[in-house]
Amino acid sequence: MKIAPLVERPDLVAQVAAWGFAEWGHLNPGETLEQRVVRIRGKMNVDRIPVAFVALDDADDIVGTASLIFDDLEGDPRNPWLASVFVLPTHRRKGIASALVRAVEATARRLGYSRLYLFTSTAPDLYAGLGWRPLERRDYRGEHIQVMDRML
Ligand SMILES: CC(C)(COP(=O)(O)OP(=O)(O)OC[C@H]1O[C@@H](n2cnc3c(N)ncnc32)[C@H](O)[C@@H]1OP(=O)(O)O)[C@@H](O)C(=O)NCCC(=O)NCCS
Repeated sequence: MKIAPLVERPDLVAQVAAWGFAEWGHLNPGETLEQRVVRIRGKMNVDRIPVAFVALDDADDIVGTASLIFDDLEGDPRNPWLASVFVLPTHRRKGIASALVRAVEATARRLGYSRLYLFTSTAPDLYAGLGWRPLERRDYRGEHIQVMDRML
């Protein structure tokens, strides 16, 4: 398994968009799959935010994704954010999400940030195990979320 920036694999934009649309479409009400594809294409960077990453198996097939983005929670002034962490169900519990999180952290650090944020409704334990600190809990677009941060 290896982690690569999405810009190295433009052929995977559609898959990343499809996963995100199915998993988090409700958090971006009104956004179509086609609009999400355009947004994901905008994450094909390495030296500036936003940056999307893909996890690739030994056959170079995509098994996961994660992103470093500037804003995530609407109206929240904090930035930047780790977002859109997703691993193919058949490949979970093998450390792939952890490797994606570390890649996003390293990139944020390289780009000069000393603190990174995320919010999650599903996996606070994953991030706590990677050294993230719980901040506030709140309701956001129909979900009960935990905001977390990590000093880089
Ligand atoms: C959450 C998700 C990204 C985890 O991916 P993963 O590759 O399985 O995670 P890792 O293997 O790196 O897990 C590392 C540790 O996190 C914890 N963890 C991971 N998934 C967990 C879960 N569903 N429940 C509880 N703990 C979990 C475990 O401690 C795990 O270590 P272990 O397997 O040695 O016990 C994956 O289940 C997923 O894509 N879920 C759907 C999308 C989602 O909820 N994304 C998170 C949005 S913030």
